[in-house]
Amino acid sequence: RSVALVGAPTDIGAGHRGSSMGPEALRVANLGARLARRGMHVVDRGNLTGPLNPWAPPTDGYRHLDEVVAWNTAVYEAVYAELKEGNLPVMLGGDHCLAIGSITAVARHCREKGTKLRVIWLDAHADFNTSQITPSGNIHGMPVACLCGYGPDALTGLGDVTPATSPDVFRQIGIRSVDEGEKRLVHEVGVDIYDMRYIDEIGMKAAMEEALADIDANTHVHVSFDVDFLDPSIAPGVGTTVRGGPNYREAQLCMEMIADTGRVGSLDIVELNPAFDKRNQTARLAVDLVESLFGKSTLMR
Ligand code: ARG
Ligand code: MN
Ligand code: MN
Ligand code: MN
Repeated sequence: RSVALVGAPTDIGAGHRGSSMGPEALRVANLGARLARRGMHVVDRGNLTGPLNPWAPPTDGYRHLDEVVAWNTAVYEAVYAELKEGNLPVMLGGDHCLAIGSITAVARHCREKGTKLRVIWLDAHADFNTSQITPSGNIHGMPVACLCGYGPDALTGLGDVTPATSPDVFRQIGIRSVDEGEKRLVHEVGVDIYDMRYIDEIGMKAAMEEALADIDANTHVHVSFDVDFLDPSIAPGVGTTVRGGPNYREAQLCMEMIADTGRVGSLDIVELNPAFDKRNQTARLAVDLVESLFGKSTLMR
């Protein structure tokens, strides 16, 4: 089984510059070698290319829509090509708008294989805004909505089928910041959200048992890991910190329980912003957690 690292160095969808440095920070933190140590064959495809960030204000509720479409088209094609070859794509963002491309590719792959898709969305945010309700115009706040068909044609129709997915595919973990209009929309469409209040009350273990229920041998699990999922005290290297996230142990358990399904088939690591980090600590933490996601454990193997 080969893991293919695909860098997508952009901050086009974000409200802060710097997540474009994420792929290199993850490489500097030894992501490739650590995965190889897990017994995986790792190939680093280098970085995709795309338009520079024009740093323009939003028009019609979208910032940088053309550039977001260009980057996502590149991600879609690259991730689909890896899946087609039987590789496990790890998309190194970049901001979270890129999940539109990666998950559209995964959804197509699953349709072609007759596999059930489950997306585990690790994030402080629901990322379910639309141009009508977004407080910022930043498209990294919109990928889940776009994947479910709520968004501009250029982003909802990247793949072979529109919309690429539906809300029932998603399980969102760690959520603690949802905007006003976004709250209405996630209730309306019924997104399964394990917010921090819920995790506080029942604990990470029970929450993950629920989120991972009904994953079977015919399920492809895609993990979309927005590093702002983590509490900012341990992960300051992101542009959109929200306090009150999972601590180190909770995050490890979350990753370990996903690993235990044995069904992880693709991964995004997004929103890492080295401009906000200190000594690359957030990248190093992300790499530790990704090792657990791929089966590292204290006593086994
Ligand atoms: N909800 C806010 C917005 O839409 C923040 C989104 C942050 N998203 C992220 N992927 N970090 O502007
Ligand atoms: Mn986020
Ligand atoms: Mn996000
Ligand atoms: Mn698969």
